[in-house]
Amino acid sequence: MSSRFDEAAGTWDASARRRELAGAIGKAIEAAIALDQDMDLLDVGAGTGLLTGGICARVRSITALDDSGGMIDELREKSRNWSGCRVVPIKADIMTFRTDQRFHGIVSSMTMHHIRDTDAFFVKLASLLEPGGFVAIADLADDDGTFHEHGNEGVCHFGFPREDLDRVARGAGFTGCCWEVVHTIRKEGRGRSYDVFLFTARLEPV
Ligand SMILES: C[S@@+](CC[C@H](N)C(=O)[O-])C[C@H]1O[C@@H](n2cnc3c(N)ncnc32)[C@H](O)[C@@H]1O
Repeated sequence: MSSRFDEAAGTWDASARRRELAGAIGKAIEAAIALDQDMDLLDVGAGTGLLTGGICARVRSITALDDSGGMIDELREKSRNWSGCRVVPIKADIMTFRTDQRFHGIVSSMTMHHIRDTDAFFVKLASLLEPGGFVAIADLADDDGTFHEHGNEGVCHFGFPREDLDRVARGAGFTGCCWEVVHTIRKEGRGRSYDVFLFTARLEPV
């Protein structure tokens, strides 16, 4: 799957739709979570850093993780011009990523639908967070299989019903689950719109 993203990396940011989406998600995260300069965050599936770059000035550091080398190369290059925050690009699959660091929060934009086992994903995120740490995950609310114009290779989920995410997150030890639509993508060629949600929750403090 990473090869498709490797190929797309060089032109990823040319899409106004992607830039607008990342901007809307960044704003929604800032509205939902009190970000501060003592926070170290992880961006899962960071891509070229559209979300990382939008919020990095609000926190101390962002570890930007992606399993596509092409995406990470683009992000590394762009992040040289970002000031006010330490950005640490890492090429890795989130499901096998290991570190001794525990993050204050984990953000993610449009990546979860590429990860087959959502239960295992939330358990993994919980293992990477400080007690009381947050997740802020944006993805498609509902997709009838028509969202991805180049086909559905590597797409494991067609949207995420709110109740499913609440159940999965609670099972992994999260509380205070909140789900809201924060952006709508209109695709004229498809004759329909696709809602994008932001799901937030906190890991139970020990
Ligand atoms: C649709 S792109 C979104 C990129 C970026 N977040 C954005 O909003 O522009 C999904 C990204 O998730 C990455 N990805 C997919 N599965 C992954 C995994 N298991 N571990 C790490 N990254 C993954 C892909 O390489 C790709 O860059």
